[in-house]
Amino acid sequence: MDNGWDASARAWIEVIGDDGDWGRRHVLDAPMLARVRGRGFREALDIGCGEGRFCRMLAAEGIACIGIDPTEELIATARLRDPDGDYRVEPAESLSLKDASVDLAVAYLSLIDVGGLKPALAEAHRVLRPGGSFLIANLQSFNTAAIPLGWTHEPDGSRRFCIDHYLCVRPVETAWRGIRIVNWHRPMHHYMQGLLDAGFDLVHFDEPAPYGVDDDKAERYRRAPNFLVMEWRKR
Ligand SMILES: C[S@@+](CC[C@H](N)C(=O)[O-])C[C@H]1O[C@@H](n2cnc3c(N)ncnc32)[C@H](O)[C@@H]1O
Repeated sequence: MDNGWDASARAWIEVIGDDGDWGRRHVLDAPMLARVRGRGFREALDIGCGEGRFCRMLAAEGIACIGIDPTEELIATARLRDPDGDYRVEPAESLSLKDASVDLAVAYLSLIDVGGLKPALAEAHRVLRPGGSFLIANLQSFNTAAIPLGWTHEPDGSRRFCIDHYLCVRPVETAWRGIRIVNWHRPMHHYMQGLLDAGFDLVHFDEPAPYGVDDDKAERYRRAPNFLVMEWRKR
């Protein structure tokens, strides 16, 4: 299935800019970096790396990172932005890396885009060394269940966050700022059970709050947060 990323790549690069979008700058970057700093990781794989921003952040922490993504234009941009980096056009479901070749795998808001969750988790497990970490930032499942309803305007002026069909796994089309893509809605247990079945143990779980900003968007975020962060260890 065409998930829209080829046609949306240019708009995505614009939205991410040099510093990342609001959610990355004000919610996810700090807790994601906190999970990798000072832990002695040396070789990482960024699954669904996009235009390579988190790979560059890992490199700045002294962690060599391979970035993979099936969207050619995003990988071309990653190479331009980091000519010494290792960026490969390939999907999470079928990696070119050898078994047990990295000690950190990252999926920074990309598991929602991956159609084949089971093979992707098996591949992440295969390329990690035993004891290696799989660091995941993902959309909350109640959030993907809110597409296309999301925030409503009630007759009394209040706003509600509407979700539906939570237990039904399905592709959901979503669009913002020139990006039009297909994400996957999967209930939370689908990810958690999938990771357990693939041979990972959960070592960290967080629902980070916005930092460095206190505007209407931050208030809405606190009412219905978009993201979660978790770290799993290869058994
Ligand atoms: C929301 S973007 C996140 C990009 C990057 N991780 C970041 O945080 O800026 C999702 C990424 O998943 C990628 N993607 C889509 N299908 C994929 C697949 N089967 N395997 C790996 N990545 C995929 C898209 O090309 C896109 O770059």
